[in-house]
Amino acid sequence: MKVGIIGGTGVYDSSWLTAAEELRLQTPYGSVTMMRGRVGENGDDVYFVNRHGPGHHVPPHLVNYRANIWSLHQVGVERIVATAAVGSLSATLFPGMVVLCDQFLDFTKSRSGTFFEGGQHGVVHTDMTDPYCPHLRSILFQHAGASGLSVANGGCYVTTEGPRFETPAEIRAFRILGGDVVGMTSVPEVVLARELGLCYSTVALVTNYAAGISSHYLTHQEVLDLMDQYKTSLNQLIRGSLPLIQQHRDCHCFTHQDGLTK
Ligand code: HPA
Repeated sequence: MKVGIIGGTGVYDSSWLTAAEELRLQTPYGSVTMMRGRVGENGDDVYFVNRHGPGHHVPPHLVNYRANIWSLHQVGVERIVATAAVGSLSATLFPGMVVLCDQFLDFTKSRSGTFFEGGQHGVVHTDMTDPYCPHLRSILFQHAGASGLSVANGGCYVTTEGPRFETPAEIRAFRILGGDVVGMTSVPEVVLARELGLCYSTVALVTNYAAGISSHYLTHQEVLDLMDQYKTSLNQLIRGSLPLIQQHRDCHCFTHQDGLTK
């Protein structure tokens, strides 16, 4: 089975893919450049997309989420593992820890968050009971030990519009609402994947305590530094999980809408 990896902040390296080549795809939403390669000698193709584009030049509120997800669908990917840098809303989720998200809260404002815009596709309301694939999450959790990372199996990802960080008042509100971590990219990515019947999992690395919990003002540099420190372990976690991820889908993700032609 073909698997897609969406590399978020600090995760840009696809040199571990063998027989890798760059592809440039045209989608109805714009063009996407991605790497295609394999893991080891055998196995199906793995596709790697940099969420923020080459050189991390696209801020979270301007990422072309629809083109990214559509392009992976177009090449036949059925499962996506995405990485994300997040701030923690709780003392128990510390910097350097991985959260395998199982729920989200959506506080985005200006993004194109659906493939279903009426017209020929009609009105479609996609189920979000399990926005993140439980089967993918359980595979990733099984491999957590080998990567040496501390991993929380589940957590609610609050997606903010960005690109600014949050106020402490917002963070307090998000905690009351049930958020565990905060970041700027999971929505609409997870929603778009679900609309196409793809499995999607977010491997979120806690890079900092959120505003008002952290003892200092936040900077993008501290996020990058933490990602840099843990990117090898994160990579091990995802690579180690790939053989099982590629095997079969033991979930209901694919029963969702897939009425759109590629
Ligand atoms: N807030 C929003 N996005 C983030 C954070 C944060 O604290 N850390 C990393 N990405």
